[in-house]
Amino acid sequence: MKGIVAYDTYYGNTKLVAEAVLEQIKADGHEGELRNVREQYPAPPQGDFLFVGSPVRMGTVTRNTKRFVKKLDEAVWKDKPTAVYTTTGLMPRKFSDEKAKKTAEKWILGAGIKLRDLAKARGLNTADKLLYVEVKDSKGPLVDTGIEKTKQYTHEFLQTLKK
Ligand SMILES: Cc1cc2nc3c(=O)[nH]c(=O)nc-3n(C[C@H](O)[C@H](O)[C@H](O)COP(=O)(O)O)c2cc1C
Repeated sequence: MKGIVAYDTYYGNTKLVAEAVLEQIKADGHEGELRNVREQYPAPPQGDFLFVGSPVRMGTVTRNTKRFVKKLDEAVWKDKPTAVYTTTGLMPRKFSDEKAKKTAEKWILGAGIKLRDLAKARGLNTADKLLYVEVKDSKGPLVDTGIEKTKQYTHEFLQTLKK
């Protein structure tokens, strides 16, 4: 099967995650193609499954990422297995109270949830489980476990595909 791995990025961290997804796609015997959502390509994306990812900024994914999902050709992509991933700031390991936890989750995880819901609304067969990979500082780098977490998530997602 062939996967499209779409990403947006400002500082390159989300691209690194996209590349790790692609590496795992190939390691699991599939084909894949990276797509930067800011670039114009000669042909629209075609494939059997999709990964779409974005950095989270101000609690949301980028406009280009949302546009990419909105513009997907329904004839090609309806019901296709889809995974949403984000790169985010560090999730605190402890919270002072429940309210602090809710606020952090909103700013760190909320964007991926909304992108997942957008993908679902577009008719994509979108996985409930999201991948989020934290960066240590706003420009990066990814946390040390980031690439491993990405590959593990990708492998699990690929296992759910019909051969
Ligand atoms: C202006 C700005 C706003 C940000 N807002 C958030 C945010 O609301 N939530 C979050 O988890 N991370 C936030 N971050 C951290 C980004 O998620 C981080 O820069 C991004 O994952 C890096 O990915 P990239 O190198 O692909 O751009 C912000 C970073 C910047 C520079």
